[in-house]
Amino acid sequence: MFYFLVFSLNLLVIFTTHVSVNGLDNGLARTPPMGWMTWAKFGCHVDCVKEPNGCISDKLIRSMASVMVTEGYLDAGYEYVNIDDCWSEMERDPVTQALIPNATRFPDGMENLSSFVHSLGLRFGIYGDIGTKTCEGYPGFWIGNGSASDYFLLDTETFASWGVDSIKVDGCYQDIDLFDRIYPRFGQALNFTGRPILYSCSWPAYQVYVQREPDYASIAKSCNLWRNYNDIELSFESVLSIIEFFAQNQADFVRYQSPGAWFDPDMIIVGNEELTLGQARVQMAIWSILSAPLLMSNDLRTIKPEFKQLLLNRKVIAVDQDPMGIMGERVFNASDLQIWVKPIEPVVKGKPSFAVALVNTGVADTFSFKLSDILTGKDSATSYSIDDLFGDEPLNSPIELSSNLTLKVGGKGDARMVKLIPRDGLFFETLTNNDLS
Ligand SMILES: *[C@@H]1O[C@H](CO)[C@@H](O)[C@H](O)[C@H]1NC(C)=O
Ligand SMILES: *[C@@H]1O[C@H](CO)[C@@H](O)[C@H](O)[C@H]1NC(C)=O
Ligand SMILES: *[C@@H]1O[C@H](CO)[C@@H](O)[C@H](O)[C@H]1NC(C)=O
Ligand SMILES: *[C@@H]1O[C@H](CO)[C@@H](O)[C@H](O)[C@H]1NC(C)=O
Ligand SMILES: *[C@@H]1O[C@H](CO)[C@@H](O)[C@H](O)[C@H]1NC(C)=O
Ligand SMILES: *[C@@H]1O[C@H](CO)[C@@H](O)[C@H](O)[C@H]1NC(C)=O
Repeated sequence: MFYFLVFSLNLLVIFTTHVSVNGLDNGLARTPPMGWMTWAKFGCHVDCVKEPNGCISDKLIRSMASVMVTEGYLDAGYEYVNIDDCWSEMERDPVTQALIPNATRFPDGMENLSSFVHSLGLRFGIYGDIGTKTCEGYPGFWIGNGSASDYFLLDTETFASWGVDSIKVDGCYQDIDLFDRIYPRFGQALNFTGRPILYSCSWPAYQVYVQREPDYASIAKSCNLWRNYNDIELSFESVLSIIEFFAQNQADFVRYQSPGAWFDPDMIIVGNEELTLGQARVQMAIWSILSAPLLMSNDLRTIKPEFKQLLLNRKVIAVDQDPMGIMGERVFNASDLQIWVKPIEPVVKGKPSFAVALVNTGVADTFSFKLSDILTGKDSATSYSIDDLFGDEPLNSPIELSSNLTLKVGGKGDARMVKLIPRDGLFFETLTNNDLS
């Protein structure tokens, strides 16, 4: 059924100023980090007899790292290979108290695995917990029992000696009242190692869960990225609920994000059978609009070609990795359609380009709206050329600010994404000698 929907966009105009807060100064994550992580797909699978190719092990990390290089993911920007929970032994080393990897599943140790990952040109990431135990019950960084002491210096030294490049620090088995003090303290311990280590904090996620207002200004000074909502699950409902959470808080969040300091809506689950290709486009579109980390959790060894192609889409990745690092916003929300807009480069004569994403949640397959309506309050030009980012079809170009943009979106649970580049002044300029020299 072809159903043409026209609507008027006057209901939602949000004015936000982008106040750049200084993020963590360790030189890392100037654009949102990209890579791969075990959790959403492989969880805490530790039975290597039952799942020889899917248990958290040296073998899993090596095989995934190899595929990331041979199949072009590294070339596209995915550089971190991250092990989540369930990698360590159940007890620390009785003599040194250091964390030790499970000897059966990581027989050559973490330094050896990390060297292998580095030899491929990738970076190596690991996981831990600011409490007495990780969420799955493995040893945490905190001693506890009223002693208020911790293993932060010992553990960060251990990670640095293994050549760890990134760490996700969870918040299970810890008193939430302590988070505002101990997450920065762990960050200092990381800094003391002298090794630049990307710091991912679950700090605000636990606070949001108990309806406590996170101190994002402090979080952005201590962490390179931070989770502040529920774990993503392998379902489109989960993707949509995360999108809704970010949309509802965008006016607040947009102020705290800057190069080096990113909100993390959690892993990219594209390529798992639970998402259709259209639903996968929705996740890629909105994560890119948010300038979110792109940390895939899937099986790259068996992924279908169309999902691989989506994950490797350079135009969409460029939106995510835009150097300005702005968190885009939802400018229209109805039961059948969401429209998201993000200012990106190139900036032409002072006017930014825009990435525009349409998320279809209804029955129509074509939407038409006045361009000026979705760019209200933004620094807009009078005329744009259009590029189709998922590469579906050629678009009529250019378009005036005062005219309608009409886009087909592939049905319910699909997304369309275009880039608008200002044309103002581009066509009547004469080249000067300076331009030519
Ligand atoms: C290491 O992992 C295996 C499962 O692969 C488990 O049987 C064993 O108990 C673990 N060892 C320790 C010391 O945690
Ligand atoms: C890793 O371990 C393997 C097997 O024990 C060994 O052959 C190799 O030399 C080690 N590599 C490094 C970099 O230590
Ligand atoms: C804390 O104390 C309890 C009771 O004495 C003990 O069972 C537990 O192992 C201690 N935990 C740690 C992390 O030392
Ligand atoms: C440690 O912090 C200082 C001050 O913010 C920063 O200049 C330096 O790059 C940091 N070093 C590492 C290894 O993170
Ligand atoms: C956006 O629209 C959906 C569907 O109508 C609705 O459930 C949701 O509450 C809306 N969100 C906001 C912030 O208005
Ligand atoms: C253009 O979009 C507006 C709503 O923004 C709508 O009222 C109008 O009918 C549309 N015009 C066409 C030709 O689709």
